[in-house]
Amino acid sequence: MDQYIIMGGKPLVGEVVIEGAKNAALGILAGAIMADEPVLIENIPDVNDVNVLLEAIQGIGAIVDRIDSHKVRINGATINSVYVDYEYIKKIRGSYYLLGALLGKFKEAQVALPGGCNIGSRPIDQHKKGFEALGAVVKIEHGGIINARADELVGNHIYLDVVSVGATINIMLVASRAKGKTIIENAAKEPHIVDVANFLNSMGANIKGAGTDVIRIKGVDSLHGSDYSIIPDQIEAGTFMLAAAATKGDVLIKNVIPKHLDAITAKLVEIGCEVEEFDDAVRVVAKKRLGHTNVKTLPYPGFPTDMQPQIATLLALSEGTSVVTESIFENRFKYVDELARMGADIKVEGNMAVINGVEKLMGAAVSSPDLRAGAALVIAGLVAEGVTILDQIEYIERGYERFHEKLASLGASMEKININDERAIKKFKLRVS
Ligand code: UD1
Repeated sequence: MDQYIIMGGKPLVGEVVIEGAKNAALGILAGAIMADEPVLIENIPDVNDVNVLLEAIQGIGAIVDRIDSHKVRINGATINSVYVDYEYIKKIRGSYYLLGALLGKFKEAQVALPGGCNIGSRPIDQHKKGFEALGAVVKIEHGGIINARADELVGNHIYLDVVSVGATINIMLVASRAKGKTIIENAAKEPHIVDVANFLNSMGANIKGAGTDVIRIKGVDSLHGSDYSIIPDQIEAGTFMLAAAATKGDVLIKNVIPKHLDAITAKLVEIGCEVEEFDDAVRVVAKKRLGHTNVKTLPYPGFPTDMQPQIATLLALSEGTSVVTESIFENRFKYVDELARMGADIKVEGNMAVINGVEKLMGAAVSSPDLRAGAALVIAGLVAEGVTILDQIEYIERGYERFHEKLASLGASMEKININDERAIKKFKLRVS
């Protein structure tokens, strides 16, 4: 077990390069198994969720050739099982995309129920509804295995009752191989929906309208090989933007699509931060203590729920009172108690956090409750006076590649150490004191 040890108080300054989008990668890597030819995927982030999915793909017989940490070639021609119950697969959310990919390709799939961060009940009824509309019978079997099977997959008109990223991608995967036309209404519009659709189209699928509320898919008989590069990670970029702002830093964040960051940029500008946009980079400069605002998480293009803990942490240090409303997941404020231990003044009422900005936070021993909350606590540690020791960082490593190294390269005093390595902790404290 590892932890991060952070000595706060240093502004982040310099340049950082953003990796490919984790959540796009999960849909795309699953989709890649639908071809019987090699599919080359570039710009995959080297993070645990992606690596677990790749191992599961290999486990069902596909050839997975990891060319380097950011590039993989997958050939689904050799798949010999539609049963995925790999030990770690239950821990990641993206495992459900194997359900859609296998069902689309073989008309049959058995996948262990997805896990992922414990941020709410996370039902999959909309996935099930979509699969059933396309002709599948879906059952949840003993041990939490989802079994989906169809004699024939036939396109249909599907209205999603809630805007769901996962259900939209999963239905696109299956419908791309169903007979005839599928229409998904009230579809999610996140950048990675568009990326998965573009990827499937590069394999010969016929998907139109991704990025709008209505997606139209004409099923095709087969999908072929492709070379594809994944879009940059909106959430990794946003996290560095807020870390730069919180530490009163000056950071150029490279390899981003600035349009995908609009909701985050708008909030930063509103509270007095400078954000400069370039073709494929943004620069965030904060020279003073920032102001207060209200934030409500919404499906894209609204403010992303995956940035909620990070912006709440920034607002915890800003002047005045801010209100953050979480409207996607009901259990996403678990980090608030940890922040309170560092001196933040936040009261949670239902799905709302009322934040009274404090002048400073104090370093403390805290624990990551989930992936994005963990990133938020790192931001808190970077700003806090004194030393913060953050454990359960395995959550953070599910979605951020070399997080501590990237932050250290921007000037943060931060290391990853083994939880039992007392000497390393002492050495760190000595070095930074
Ligand atoms: C994905 C992302 C996650 C992000 C979330 C919202 C992945 C692997 N994860 O999660 O990081 O926080 O989108 O942007 O890409 N819902 C239902 N029934 C369903 C499906 C969802 O009621 O069948 C509800 C959920 O409880 C939630 C809302 O719909 O309230 C949105 O969930 P969804 O967009 O599906 O999130 P995930 O795909 O799980």
